Amino acid sequence: MSYSTRFLYLRLWNGACFTLVMQLTVNGTARQYDGDPQMPLLWYLRDLLRLTGTKFGCGVGLCGACTVHVNGAAQRSCVTRMSDAAGKQVVTIEALSANGDHPVQRAWKQINVPQCGYCQSGQIMQAAALLKQKPTPTDQDIDEIMQGNICRCGTYQRIRQAIHLAAGGKA
Ligand code: FES
Ligand code: FES
Repeated sequence: MSYSTRFLYLRLWNGACFTLVMQLTVNGTARQYDGDPQMPLLWYLRDLLRLTGTKFGCGVGLCGACTVHVNGAAQRSCVTRMSDAAGKQVVTIEALSANGDHPVQRAWKQINVPQCGYCQSGQIMQAAALLKQKPTPTDQDIDEIMQGNICRCGTYQRIRQAIHLAAGGKA
């Protein structure tokens, strides 16, 4: 992605300062952003776009609650600056599927994975990205990829079962 397609234009401000206007796509909608380029993508999603399915946990990239897809890969939105999201395709839990019927979401419902639910949108986004990379993951693949997503309720066994189910295997 070239610099010119990531950043739409420089806006002249009071004849002296310049504001960088960046473009990105969120859940299929083209957006422009001219705020602080250092602001975390998570704040943009939750506070400006009101996409509150993506959660704040640790804020430092260690819990996975804020996981979204950026150009198809799982990424922690709390440590992704807006300048790093410029020109990219961002997908949040709200748009993972049209009707909550992504295979991972269906498996989650069937296995009844969530307890309090707080970590679960991050878990689902991480699991969906895993299955894109590895359509039939082993237990080891699952544990490796999912280990960065913390669940205080300890739903790890059900998460693993649900990922196998979503992959077309037995729960
Ligand atoms: S809130 Fe982003 S990893 Fe914890
Ligand atoms: S379901 Fe409660 S933190 Fe994961």
